[in-house]
Amino acid sequence: MGRVVAVQGPVVDIKFKSIEEIPSVYGVLKTETVDQREIFLEVAEHRAGNIARCIAINSTQNLQRNAKAVPMGPSIEVPVGDVMYSRVINIMGQPIDQKGVISAKKKAPIRVRELGTKIRSKAVTTKKFEVLETGVKIIDLLFPLVKGSKTGVLGGAGLGKSIITLEIIHNIVTKHQGTCVFVGIGERIREGNELLFELSKHGILPKTMIVFGQMNEPPGARYGVAMTGATLAETLQKENQDVLLFVDNIFRFIQAGAEISTLLGRVPSETGYQPTLISEASEFHERIRSGGGVAGSVTSIEAVYVPADDLTDPAVVAIFTFLDSLMVLSRERVQLGLYPAIDPLQSSCANLDPDVVGKRHYQISQDVLQAFYKYEELRKLVLVIGIDELSPADRLIYDRARKIQNFLTQPFSTAEAYTGKKGYYVPIEETIKGCEEILSGRHDKRSEEEFYMVGPLT
Ligand SMILES: Nc1ncnc2c1ncn2[C@@H]1O[C@H](COP(=O)(O)OP(=O)(O)OP(=O)(O)O)[C@@H](O)[C@H]1O
Ligand SMILES: [Mg+2]
Repeated sequence: MGRVVAVQGPVVDIKFKSIEEIPSVYGVLKTETVDQREIFLEVAEHRAGNIARCIAINSTQNLQRNAKAVPMGPSIEVPVGDVMYSRVINIMGQPIDQKGVISAKKKAPIRVRELGTKIRSKAVTTKKFEVLETGVKIIDLLFPLVKGSKTGVLGGAGLGKSIITLEIIHNIVTKHQGTCVFVGIGERIREGNELLFELSKHGILPKTMIVFGQMNEPPGARYGVAMTGATLAETLQKENQDVLLFVDNIFRFIQAGAEISTLLGRVPSETGYQPTLISEASEFHERIRSGGGVAGSVTSIEAVYVPADDLTDPAVVAIFTFLDSLMVLSRERVQLGLYPAIDPLQSSCANLDPDVVGKRHYQISQDVLQAFYKYEELRKLVLVIGIDELSPADRLIYDRARKIQNFLTQPFSTAEAYTGKKGYYVPIEETIKGCEEILSGRHDKRSEEEFYMVGPLT
């Protein structure tokens, strides 16, 4: 047992009698405030004088010096397994949904000692690519979701990251019976409520496990909650299930890491972020990788907040180096009402490959991208010379590209409240057919408005 010797906001120093008693880094301690509120602490550093410097998971208000701190084990452990479906927990695995205690048979530590950098003899690359259909036209066409891959939805404030992730959950779970883990990091509490409401409204909740470490919580909770989510997903994966892991918002995980780093007095790198930026981003992403000798997979979809719309922000760069597919949202498209506001020319996807999606899909996707590139050039030209000065051939390309741009917008089931339109699930075949027809000129006589915010082409 140790004693609290200093409390500075979320940083708490615990003194032990001898060096042997000090728990290892990431060890958990429990202490209490004067008004008997439990506080959990995670060991961050060992200091001289038998002191463990800890980061508090809960608010340290009213925690006083000399309070007892009891070691609880080498890592936070959370309940895992089927009982977690339709439950909402915090980083510690405690229920926060007022549905009573969780009586789980199994618990798992959220901190793992070794990520297993060892190369395994059975290569995972021999696995066949399996594409998960999302029913969102632009995503299926240009950013196919491959089982076991990592996808990022990048964008500044209010561009529709959360709605895109929610729509993917909605479509995959209702259409394909997927199971998913949702991790809310550092977003508004109101959004957590809304998510819960949407999920139960559409009957998705029984297939979902939810973990929250929202904006109001101390950095320790926001930082660790990503690992709690990863642990839930990992356990399902080990049971040979295919899991979808949704994170809203992974930038907040990095941000919480930066806050902790500052609180611990570490000197930031010249970019202003924590010196451990890359290793923190990798700790999370490497943990949720697929393979490792199990048949299950974790497919992750992560919302990434982009501060001030600046894609070169070091935290954003650190995150996207681990992603296979990047959907970049653009403010310009939001202003034009082109939802989902993914800008295909700024985005990229490693899964868009003929071996993964098939020759026809690949060819059409390339033709669509080509049309967008050309449109971008012509658009600038039109600003200068006016649309009537375009040559007839260019005018045709220009019009068709605009029709495709409109066709790739889509009313979402989860955004019905905003658009007032019924949401559509569009099978990939319909999307490919629609784009092919527009590109081939079959719809040259129709006006571009007819393609805006519709489901499949009629
Ligand atoms: N697909 C869509 N259809 C219609 N409206 C949308 C769509 N996506 C986003 N919006 C509008 O944009 C707003 C913000 O969306 P959302 O909350 O998903 O953004 P965000 O990128 O998650 O924002 P934040 O950075 O605050 O988390 C919504 O409230 C809605 O009005
Ligand atoms: Mg959001």
